Amino acid sequence: MLKNKHIILGITGGIAAYKSAMLLRLLVKAGAEVQVVMTPSAKEFITPVTLSALSGKPVVSEFFSANTGEWHSHVDLGLWADAMVIAPATACTLAKMATGVADNMLVTTYLSAKAPVFVAPAMDLDMMAHPTTTRNLQTLQRDGVAIIEAEAGELASHLVGKGRMAEPETIVAALESYFAKSEQWAGKDVLITAGPTYERIDPVRFIGNFSTGKMGYALAEEAAKRGANVMLVSGPVSLKAKHPNITVVSVESAREMHDACVQAWPAADLAIMCAAVADYAPAEYHHKKIKREGHEVPVIELVKNPDIAAALGQSKREDQVLVGFALETDNEQANALDKMRRKGLDFIALNSLKDADAGFGVDTNRVTLFAADGTSTELPFGTKAEVASSILNHINL
Ligand code: CTP
Repeated sequence: MLKNKHIILGITGGIAAYKSAMLLRLLVKAGAEVQVVMTPSAKEFITPVTLSALSGKPVVSEFFSANTGEWHSHVDLGLWADAMVIAPATACTLAKMATGVADNMLVTTYLSAKAPVFVAPAMDLDMMAHPTTTRNLQTLQRDGVAIIEAEAGELASHLVGKGRMAEPETIVAALESYFAKSEQWAGKDVLITAGPTYERIDPVRFIGNFSTGKMGYALAEEAAKRGANVMLVSGPVSLKAKHPNITVVSVESAREMHDACVQAWPAADLAIMCAAVADYAPAEYHHKKIKREGHEVPVIELVKNPDIAAALGQSKREDQVLVGFALETDNEQANALDKMRRKGLDFIALNSLKDADAGFGVDTNRVTLFAADGTSTELPFGTKAEVASSILNHINL
């Protein structure tokens, strides 16, 4: 997986920098081309000579070469890389990355990097547990940086706790799994629905629901990050898609969402139906606002909306994968399995409205994924981005 991959290995000033030499060795052995970028303080812990000998390239640390005056271009480096991994990442560098303090070659390279960035934090347990570090890691995660969690054990201070840099083998495994995933997803066409639909009653009123679109947008970002071309058919939400591989098709009603999906489906490799589609729409649209004074209480007659997932299920080819969601309040598993069968889905992700930390509006989710082959997996509880990643990990394209 790492053969001929261009990897920037960022090294910062922490005791764990001695392990970076081993990490570099493993990356080179796996066939990667590695460019080391060190912060000035990292040189207090490991010498550039060791690292340039192991990587076969001069180490970059300053903006200019002291001997020749040659400028080291962080922009070129950022474009060259297929991945950047910063190991160890100290509390100081994490803070600079989170806030854009670009006062060294490593942070400027991070800000210029187009490829995915991984950090392997390493620090003393109290620094690791400090709210500032937690906040900075959360910010970086939101910015799309992958955190390779620090491990618990004896630290340089001889205290015992969480703060040891992940072992070099673990870091290599994280990179390998990223490249394996992106090879599977690169260039695939993925259709995702998200958010609620609004069914107009009159110019000022509609029938809708509480969906905010967070789960669908998280799935779109994750699929795009893996290299897929994503068409995100979105009902009215206040979210913005970030990744350039995502094309948003904004719709309002279930009918519009249906039409956009049916048109896109033949060219798609995968569709994930995450929208909370209104089951019914008013039979008649009132072109003028329905007035209260001097009128009877109106009765709004409803008609059934098309079932988008079922429509795609009916025309699904062997080479396509179709995933649905079920949000249930009771008889959860039986209802979800029934929906999967009725709509011709390959997978159904069940979330329960019984959990306060899952469902509409919140940033976390709790999902059980059922597959048409009869297997089921309770996915680890996490942010919607983490749950999106777990769901995609179960799909083979
Ligand atoms: N769905 C859809 N089109 C609809 C209704 C639902 O594509 N008109 C999709 C949803 O995006 C979801 C799955 O079908 O992936 C299940 O949605 P849900 O609302 O739970 O199912 P319904 O079929 O509407 O059943 P009910 O409301 O009776 O639970």
